[in-house]
Amino acid sequence: MFEPRDAPYPELKKSHTMAHTGRPWTDFKPPASAPVWATIEGLGRYYILVAALDLGVFDALQRLGPSSAADLAEELGCPVAHLGSLLDGVVAQGLLDQFVDVYELNDTAKRYLVTDGPASMASLIAVAPGPHDNWTRLADTVRNGRPATPIENDPAAFYVPLVEGTFTTMLRCATRADLRVRYSALTAPRVLDLGAGGAPWSIAILTACAEGSAVVNDLPEVLGVAETKTVEHGVADRCEFRPGDFHDIAIEVDAFDIVVLGHVCRTEGIDGAQHLIERAFRALKPGGRLLLADYFPDMERKSNPHAVLMGTTMMASTKKGFTFTHEQVSRWLAATGFEALRLIEPIGFQQVFVASKPRRAPLSGAN
Ligand SMILES: C[S@@+](CC[C@H](N)C(=O)[O-])C[C@H]1O[C@@H](n2cnc3c(N)ncnc32)[C@H](O)[C@@H]1O
Repeated sequence: MFEPRDAPYPELKKSHTMAHTGRPWTDFKPPASAPVWATIEGLGRYYILVAALDLGVFDALQRLGPSSAADLAEELGCPVAHLGSLLDGVVAQGLLDQFVDVYELNDTAKRYLVTDGPASMASLIAVAPGPHDNWTRLADTVRNGRPATPIENDPAAFYVPLVEGTFTTMLRCATRADLRVRYSALTAPRVLDLGAGGAPWSIAILTACAEGSAVVNDLPEVLGVAETKTVEHGVADRCEFRPGDFHDIAIEVDAFDIVVLGHVCRTEGIDGAQHLIERAFRALKPGGRLLLADYFPDMERKSNPHAVLMGTTMMASTKKGFTFTHEQVSRWLAATGFEALRLIEPIGFQQVFVASKPRRAPLSGAN
């Protein structure tokens, strides 16, 4: 009678392979190749997830509950061997659970990968790295100092799906920021939201402040996303939609309690980012506050790989995009005249500078 054992066939002990431990019989132990393999596999890992989302794997598992590859293949209309291979690739990344031949959503998938998850990133994943073709031409971009097809050539094609995909995360960030910023304590704040996308910051603030109002700006071809989202959240009647380039549109001076620069500086280059900070300063009432959200590497660009890689992502797909360090942004804010600088992180990986315009000596004049 065959007794099933843990491993009924020969296997190398994985903890003893050279990739993990190097050559044990030499007195110099070479470094493991694991980091190189991790990078090689990075491309496949990403496209496995993109394909699983495209096929509707996570939503199907939410509908069906724990399922075999055969059940899922029938539901999704795919050959079972190919779907099974894809599912195993998703499991290998810790994005699904598997028990024998049954697959099920784990907590990560329930929260981030099903379409209606509480912090769903499902529609963000395909668009977040920028146009995929730009990555295959990265060496040329570095040689030439410019991508062949920067997103600025067709901003709507990139930004409309991007801001729809980031909306859930940014609304959570903006809502949580109130714990640190206490914008809800303002009676009738006037908000200026430059490059608002789906307007998550305006929506969060106006939802908390029943008498607040907002000027919501974006490029004309993207502003429709803000119009739709503000209607959905019941605040559109307190928004003025102001289409145009945030470097050029008319902005009232000394007029706003809060100015939001939400993930807009890193595409603008040093001069452009400083110009936006100066415009924000002029637009604020004395005592008003700037909220500047972005991904900021530390001074040595080592301890926050997420922000560092976001900088490389910007370089790959924009004309002038690079991320800025905490030190650079702090210096620009102080040089512009802001005081009481703080850095908050309302949710993981989402950092926001909060800075006040002094109550004394307001700037005035053309903006
Ligand atoms: C990364 S999204 C950030 C959206 C939103 N502020 C947020 O935090 O979720 C950048 C936004 O800036 C807008 N944008 C880019 N260049 C712009 C410009 N020159 N003038 C106005 N808006 C611009 C884009 O259309 C996009 O909606």
